[in-house]
Amino acid sequence: MNTSSKVTTNITMHYNRTVQYFIASGGITTILCIFIVYQPLTESFLEDSSCMCNCAIDSEGDKWFYQRYRPTTHVLLNSKNSALDFNTYSWWRALQGESTVTNYTKVVEVLFSLFPDKNHFSNASPSRCRTCAVVGNSGNLIRSHYGALVDSNDFIIRMNEGPTKGFERDVGSKTTHRIIYPESAVDMDDATHLVLLPFKILDLQWIISAFTTKHIDMTYMYVRPTVKADMNKVMIIHPAFMKYVYESWLDKRGFYSSTGFISIMFALHICDEVNVFGFGPTRDGAWHHYFDDLVVDSNGGPHDGEFERKLIAELHQKQRIMMYKGF
Ligand code: C5P
Repeated sequence: MNTSSKVTTNITMHYNRTVQYFIASGGITTILCIFIVYQPLTESFLEDSSCMCNCAIDSEGDKWFYQRYRPTTHVLLNSKNSALDFNTYSWWRALQGESTVTNYTKVVEVLFSLFPDKNHFSNASPSRCRTCAVVGNSGNLIRSHYGALVDSNDFIIRMNEGPTKGFERDVGSKTTHRIIYPESAVDMDDATHLVLLPFKILDLQWIISAFTTKHIDMTYMYVRPTVKADMNKVMIIHPAFMKYVYESWLDKRGFYSSTGFISIMFALHICDEVNVFGFGPTRDGAWHHYFDDLVVDSNGGPHDGEFERKLIAELHQKQRIMMYKGF
């Protein structure tokens, strides 16, 4: 594709996305977006613009945000950044009360002899526009018609079981990243990055086993001994990132972050624009998944759901993320 057709394609994509925003959310922001996109799109307009999207991270000083956001934190684990300081290691090992003596360094060595050992993403920057959709599992997605809007993002991050088949109109059909842990693992297609959220060394051993010997089928409960996914797309969330989210964002509320909240933080660190779907209750206050009737107690277990919800609302209000509340 030559440069001018790339620019035309980009302009078309932006126009399409803007129209979708308008349909989904309405409001003054959307009208402003349409105004911007309709401006004469000369080369100089494209070059001068420092960011073509609703950038989550910018250079403007917002004390509340920058007191919490630490751009240099390692997001994903690799062999070069894998050493953990004593505090991080102790905090991480205590999350699920892991008491077995396991050599973390040796496990990491095996891990990155099997899975991609690289710096997967450059940090978000104002001069780029990478858009992320983070799709939680809330029942408020039902009848939302968000599917096309979700699929228009560059990265589509889902979590745990959250299916697309049969729910495409409301949740979209594409998945670029799926964040799971052994107890929530599902098979995924070849286009999807399996992103492991490890709560213990055994979780690292499980992912190794799942792609090799398949002998680990028990953690604190039965887990799948194997999972279908492209081995070359596996990524591992850094334990230090989990600790950072817990301390810097959650102010040590609950015991550790929910998968949903850490997924939003993951997106804030790898994308420029973060669009959030499928979080929170339905309009009539029900807490269930869009794909089953299981009632999810957002304050139960190790998470402070209420505090996380307030933070997400604040991020939306400060325009660091765009929250789509569904129905
Ligand atoms: O239930 P599960 O943990 O698979 O859901 C993934 C995430 O989706 C949760 O961590 C939560 O942040 C979000 N969720 C929600 N409201 C629901 C169900 C899930 O906000 N009713």
